[in-house]
Amino acid sequence: MSSALRREYLAALGLETWVVRGKPPGSPETARPDAPALRDLPEPRDTPARPDAPALRDLPEPRDTPELRDLPEPRAPGAAGDSSPGREAGVDWPELRARVAACTRCALCNTRTQTVFGVGSQTADWLIVGEAPGAEEDRQGEPFVGRAGQLLNSMLRAIGLTREQVYIANVLKCRPPGNRDPTASEAAECLPYLEQQIALLKPKIMLAVGRIASQNLLRTEVTLGRLRQQVHRFGLSQVPLVVTYHPAYLLRTPADKRKAWEDLKFAREVCARV
Ligand code: URA
Repeated sequence: MSSALRREYLAALGLETWVVRGKPPGSPETARPDAPALRDLPEPRDTPARPDAPALRDLPEPRDTPELRDLPEPRAPGAAGDSSPGREAGVDWPELRARVAACTRCALCNTRTQTVFGVGSQTADWLIVGEAPGAEEDRQGEPFVGRAGQLLNSMLRAIGLTREQVYIANVLKCRPPGNRDPTASEAAECLPYLEQQIALLKPKIMLAVGRIASQNLLRTEVTLGRLRQQVHRFGLSQVPLVVTYHPAYLLRTPADKRKAWEDLKFAREVCARV
C-alpha cells in the first residue's frame, strides 16, 4: 500500500501523520513524537519479519486469571453429550449457514429480522469477531455495515487489509432488541456456531473487538484494558486471539484510537509469526 493511501486510512482512524514542511513529495514522512510514524509501520504481512520484531513465543501470554481457570473447558465438536448446534464433524459452510438461519435456540429468533451469519473470505487468515448485530446489520443481514462498520473497514485498511480479505462475524447471530448486551445464555447458545465457523475457516488470527466479544470468547470477566496487548488462545484449536476496542466505542471515545492502532499493529505482528 502506498504511504499516501495508508495516511488516508490512518486519517480515517483519526490518527494524523505529519509531513515535514518543504520536503519534496515522496520524501520520507516525519511524525510528531506521539503520532504513529509511517516509517514505523510494519510492512505488509507477506514481507519478511523485521529482525527486531518479537517472535510469537516472546509475546506476552494471557494472565492466568481465576476467571479463566474456573470456567469449564469447551467440549470437542461432536463430543459425547454435546448437543450444540453445528457441532457435528463435516458440516460445511452452506449447511452451517442454513442451520443458523433456522435457529430457534433462544428468544432472539422472535425479534430478529434475519440472522447475521458472517461475511468475507472463507480462506481468510483473519477472523474479526464483534458482539452482535445492530439495527442496520439486522436489516441488511451483514455484520458491521453501520458507522462502526465503516470505522472497522478503516482500521483494517490501516494495516493493509480489505474487508473482503478477512472474515467478519459476531458472537451472536441475532440482534438483541434495543442493542442491549447479550445475555450469558444467549452467548452460550450461539457460540457453537462461531466455533464451527472457526473450524471451517481455520484462521491464523482472531481479532476480538470490544469487551463483550472478548470476554465471551475468552470466558473471562477481566477488563478489556487488561486483555489488550497479549496473545490469548481461543478454544480447542488454540487460535491466537488479540483483543482491541470496539469501533462503536472508538467513535464515542476517539482518544483511544491510538491504543486501537497499537493493538492492530500488535495483531499484525502476531499473525506474521504464526
Ligand atoms: N457491532 C457489532 O459488534 N457487530 C456488528 O455486526 C455491528 C455492530
